[in-house]
This record gives sequence, C-alpha cells and structure tokens, in this order.
Amino acid sequence: MARMKKVLVTGGAGFIGSNFIHYCLDRRPDLSIINLDALTYAGNMENLSLCSCDRRYRFIHGDIRDRELVQSVFAEYDPDAVIHFAAETHVDRSIEDPDVFVTTNVLGTQILLDAAKTAWKKHPKDHRCRQYRKGVRFIHISTDEVYGSLDGEGTFSEESPLLPNSPYAASKAGADLLVRSYFRTFGFPAVITRCSNNYGPYQFPEKLIPLMVRNAQQDLPLPVYGDGMQVRDWLHVSDHCEAVMAVWENGRLGEVYNIGGGFEKTNLEIVQIILDTLGKPASLIRHIADRPGHDRRYAMDYGKISKELGWQPAHTVEDGLKETVLWYVDNPDWLERVVSGQYRSYYARMYRGME
Ligand code: NAD
Ligand code: TYD
Repeated sequence: MARMKKVLVTGGAGFIGSNFIHYCLDRRPDLSIINLDALTYAGNMENLSLCSCDRRYRFIHGDIRDRELVQSVFAEYDPDAVIHFAAETHVDRSIEDPDVFVTTNVLGTQILLDAAKTAWKKHPKDHRCRQYRKGVRFIHISTDEVYGSLDGEGTFSEESPLLPNSPYAASKAGADLLVRSYFRTFGFPAVITRCSNNYGPYQFPEKLIPLMVRNAQQDLPLPVYGDGMQVRDWLHVSDHCEAVMAVWENGRLGEVYNIGGGFEKTNLEIVQIILDTLGKPASLIRHIADRPGHDRRYAMDYGKISKELGWQPAHTVEDGLKETVLWYVDNPDWLERVVSGQYRSYYARMYRGME
C-alpha cells in the first residue's frame, strides 16, 4: 500500500485553512494533516470540531514565529508538504496595528521556510546543498492584494508588478519575495498561489460578507465604505481549495499561480445579493467613511492555472453567495460564539458613531 502523505497546514483553524482541512479529510484518504495554528482571534477550533476524531488529523497549538517549536514540528512529524495559510489577514486591522502583520506574515514565513529547508535537504550538513527529498513541496498561499489596485479595465497576471497598498498587502508581498528568494538561492521547492477574495462557511465576521449577513439578520445598519463601488473578484472557498490542491500536485516549482473567480462585483452588488437572499430592505445600507488607501478594483487573469493545471471555478458568485448566506443563517450558534468580547470591542472601535 502507498505510504500516506503528511501535510503540515499552517493556520488551519482559520477560514480557508479549516475549509482546506475538511476538503482533504473528506476527499483524500491518502493524506494525513498536521494543523499548526496559534489560535489568534481569527482561529477557531470549532471550525474543525468534525475532524477532531479523525485519526489522520493532529492539531498543534503554536506560533509560526516560534523557531524552536517549528523546528520541533518538522523533527517530530516529518511532513512531505507545507500548505502555508497562517497569516494576519484583515486589512482594517493592519491599518490599526501593522506590527503583528510584519512579524507573522514576513518573519513567520521565513522561519517556516528555514525549518522546511533544513528538514528537507538531502545533505543537511552541506550549506551549499540544493537538493531536497523527493516530492517535498512548500505551497505559499498569497493574495491578489500584493498587486495593488486596478482602475477600470484590465486584470492582474502573474507578471504584474507588486504594488501593495495596505500594510497587510505589503507584508504578504514581503513573504512572497522571501519564498521566491528561497527558490532562486537555495533551489527550495516552493510554489506561490495568489487568490482573489474568498467567501464561504467559517469566515470570521469582520470580513465583508459574514459581517453584512449578521447585521442584516439583526436589522442593524450595513456599513459600506465610501461609495461602495469598489470591485472585488469573488471565489468560493471550495474552488480555492481545489486550486491549491492542483498547484500542490502539479504546479511547477518556483512559479506563481493566480487563482480567481472571474466574478467581479461591486461591494454594493454583494450587499444587495445578501439583502435579497435574507428578504431585508436596502434602507439598512449606511455609507460610512472610506478605508484609508482603499484599493478600488481587483481582477485576476487565471489563465495560467487553467491552461497548465486544468483548474476552473465550479461556483458562480450568485449561487455560491446565496448558499453561503444560508449557511450562516443555518449556523447561528457558530456565528454568535465567534462574535466574542474581543470582536465586540473591535466592532465598537471600528464602526463608532454608526446609527
Ligand atoms: P484567517 O484570518 O481566517 O485565518 C488565519 C489563521 O492563521 C487563523 O487560524 C490564525 O489563528 C492563524 N494564525 C495567525 N497568526 C498565526 C501565527 N503567528 N502562527 C500560527 N498561526 C497563526 O485567514 P484566511 O482568510 O483563512 O486566509 C488564509 C490565507 O489565505 C492567508 O495567508 C491570506 O493571506 C490568504 N488569502 C485569503 C483570502 C481571503 O479572501 N480570505 C484571499 C486570498 C488569500
Ligand atoms: P474585506 O472583506 O475586508 O476584504 P479585502 O479588503 O481584503 O478585499 O472587504 C471587502 C470589501 O468590502 C473591501 O472593498 C472593503 C469593503 N468593506 C465595507 O465596505 N464595509 C465593511 O464593513 C467591510 C469589513 C468591508
């Protein structure tokens, strides 16, 4: 029987990481998962409660910035792949307090790269060794936000310049460049994915879609930044998981793959779909002060991953978003438990003065 592959997933208690772990355990009996997560405010063990009895799943509570711990995880579990989701991810929080974005997203990534490089090298004592154990791979999960903002027409390709505008995007771009440098300098077996905005179950309700669903359900105002005409390219999280799997299995080392839904919507259009699905009035919408440095438009050219790896999104945003809204409606306990005291104080600070 073929040996089971061991995957170290970082940030697996967050939105996309937990969806990815469910995806692997449901569909891939050949995989076992080690989830390393610091359980910040965005990490939620409840996202993985269905996995806790699965013998192919292990959870390690730990911080990717803890070099000793990360090295010990490699020594103990000897993973064949790293799927690196762990990050500070919310643009508004990066504007409030950028420090942790730099330490987690940049330094944390470098610590993981170093630990994987040491553990996977064929000749660990040879500093110049550029050969690695057969089949090992580091998949770095990045974002379209590293490309900055588009006006009007056009899309981001993998060759677009990195022009990040928020501290979040800048920290992700820093991490991408480190991954690139490890490939170029050390021959380290890494691939980068850059994905557009995700939606789906288990997203923390500080992000647009779950925040609006929760407020609309309670007839609270829906805080739209500025004119609400900013455009995002939305992708269902399960399509993102499929894409990551395709890149892990067949992506070319040292390459970047854009992942997008091809479904551009303004924030107001998204809010309107949510209102329609819930049968709530547009009078709940409140235009509030714009986000500083707010990117106007993101749009992805995902031709490379389609052509090379045969990946295409399976969901349309209209159907996927309705299904997602109904998931939050069907899981009120999840939503209310996530909205802890910490979230409440963030919300009060962020949306102060909104009627
Ligand atoms: P999230 O904020 O929901 O989850 C992040 C997870 O990382 C949490 O479980 C958190 O506890 C963990 N974490 C944070 N700091 C850590 C640390 N120092 N050590 C260990 N664990 C830590 O994020 P998400 O939306 O699931 O995003 C996952 C990844 O995908 C991120 O790298 C993000 O940049 C990228 N991405 C997200 C989107 C999106 O729309 N959400 C789009 C493109 C790319
Ligand atoms: P968000 O979910 O934070 O993702 P990102 O900034 O990474 O794209 O926001 C998506 C869009 O929704 C973005 O243009 C900002 C906007 N937005 C609002 O208008 N109001 C809100 O309360 C939030 C959280 C976001």
